[in-house]
Amino acid sequence: MSRLRSAVQKGKTVALENTEVIKSSNKKKSKHAIKEEEPSETEASSYHFFHDPSEICLFRSQLLQWYDQNKRELPWRTLALTEPDVNIRTYAVWVSEIMLQQTQVATVIDYYNRWMKRWATVEKLAAATLEEVNQMWAGLGYYSRGRRLHEGAQKVVSELNGEMPKTTAGLLKQLPGVGRYTAGAIGSIALGQVTGAVDGNVIRVLCRVRAIGADSSSPTVTDALWKIADTLVDRERPGDFNQAMMELGARVCTPKSPLCSQCPIQSHCHAFRKVSIKQEIDSKRLLSKLASNLNNSVPDIENCLAGDGCNLCLSEDWDPQLGVQNYPRKPVKKAPRAEQTLTCIVERKRDGEEMEYLLTQRPSKGLLAGMWELPSMLLEADVSESRYKSLICDMMQKRLDASLDTHSVQFVGEVVHIFSHIHQTYIVFSVRVSDWSDRKREQKTCWLSKSALHEAAVSTGVKKIMKLYESSSKADIKEKKRKPSPEKRSNKIKKAKVCCY
Ligand code: ADE
Repeated sequence: MSRLRSAVQKGKTVALENTEVIKSSNKKKSKHAIKEEEPSETEASSYHFFHDPSEICLFRSQLLQWYDQNKRELPWRTLALTEPDVNIRTYAVWVSEIMLQQTQVATVIDYYNRWMKRWATVEKLAAATLEEVNQMWAGLGYYSRGRRLHEGAQKVVSELNGEMPKTTAGLLKQLPGVGRYTAGAIGSIALGQVTGAVDGNVIRVLCRVRAIGADSSSPTVTDALWKIADTLVDRERPGDFNQAMMELGARVCTPKSPLCSQCPIQSHCHAFRKVSIKQEIDSKRLLSKLASNLNNSVPDIENCLAGDGCNLCLSEDWDPQLGVQNYPRKPVKKAPRAEQTLTCIVERKRDGEEMEYLLTQRPSKGLLAGMWELPSMLLEADVSESRYKSLICDMMQKRLDASLDTHSVQFVGEVVHIFSHIHQTYIVFSVRVSDWSDRKREQKTCWLSKSALHEAAVSTGVKKIMKLYESSSKADIKEKKRKPSPEKRSNKIKKAKVCCY
C-alpha cells in the first residue's frame, strides 16, 4: 500500500503527458482523502494508467526496438516510409487502413497491391465506377468499406480540391467511413501526428498491460484505453509506435496463445505479473514451503486497490485457467439471426457460345449493396420444402418470362455463410432455360460466362455456391458413368454442404 501511495504522489510530479484522469482526480481529492479501507478513484487510476515518465520512456524504446527488429515488410508500410508526396501517402495509408478493418493482413496484401496499381492516387479512384470498385473488392467482405472509400475519394476531388485532409481531426470529419481509430492510424502513420490508435489488437495489449477487465466495449474502458494510448504514443515516431502496438497484438499478445516470454514490454504488464505471482504462490504451496494459512491472493501492489469500486477492474472472478487471457473481457455477443435464402443457378447455352449464368444486381443500399448475385429470394419461416421448386419457377417467370416445369429444377445443396450479424443458409437449385426474354426490368440482370462470373463483383457467398455447383456437377458426371439409381444420386448431391466462415 505504501509503495502504491508513493507512486500516486510521485504521479504529481510527472510531466505534461500524464492522463487527464490523474490530473482531474488529483484536483478533486487531497491525498489525505485516500483511505486504506475505501480506495479512491485516484488509486484505481494509479493502477490502470501510466504515470512515471521514465517507465513511459522505457516502454516506448523497448517496443520500438522490438518493432525495428521484427516488423513485417508490408506494402503500405513501405509506401508510408518512401512516398514523398503527402497526398499520395495519406491516400495510400487510408486505403490500407480501410482494407485492414475486419480483414487479416495476409488477405489484404494482394488486394492492396492490385488496388494501388490500378488507382495509385485519390483522383484515379474518384474517376472509377462503383462497379469497378465492387469488382476489385469482391471476396474481401464488408463491401460498404469499398463503397465508402470511393465516395470519400469523390468528395476529396470535388469538395477538397483533390487535397487529402492534413490532420487527424480533418480525416475524422471529412472522410466517410473514417472513425476515431482509422483517423488516428492514418494521422500518425502518414502525417506523423502524435495520437494513439486503438484497434482490436491494441485493446487486447492495453487491457493486459494495465489489467483492465471490465467490458472492453464500454465507454468507460474505451475512454481509459484512448487516454493510455495517447499517453504512451512516441512523440518522435507516432506511426511506428502505433503499428508496433498493432503488430505486438497480432503476433505476440495474441487472443488465444500469447507468447509472453517473447514480449518486449513484459516488465510493464500487470496481467503477466499477476500470473507470475499466482504461479509462484501455487508452486510454493505445492512444495509446502509456506505456512498452511498461505492465501492465494497477490500482494496489494499488484492489485487495484479500489476493489469493487473500480469500473476498470475485472467484472467477473479471475479464472486461473486463462492466465493473461483473463483480459480483455468482451460483452456476450448477440447470436446472429438465422436466415434461409432460396437461390437458383440459371444456365443458358446459346449456339456457339459458352454456357452462361444469370445474375441480378442487389439494391444500391443495405447488405452487399450493388453487388451481383444469383437469383434469390429470402424464405419466410413457414415455407415448406415442397414449395421450393414452384417458388423458383415463379421467380423465373417474373425475372425472365420463362415458363419452367418444376421437374427441370434440380436440388444442388446448401451453403452456409456467416455474415457478422446473419447466419445465412443458401438452399441452392439449378435449372437450364431454353427460352427467355431480355426485356428491361426494375432489377438489373446480366448473363455471364463462368470465367466472367469469377471476375465479377460477386460476394464470397456466390463464389462458394458456384464452387459447390461445379463440384456437384463433376460428381454427377462420375456418377452417370457408373449409372447409379436415381435416388442414390440425388441423396449424394443433397449431402453436399459447403460452409464458409
Ligand atoms: N492493422 C491495422 N493497421 C495496420 C497496420 N498499419 N499494420 C498492420 N496491421 C494493421
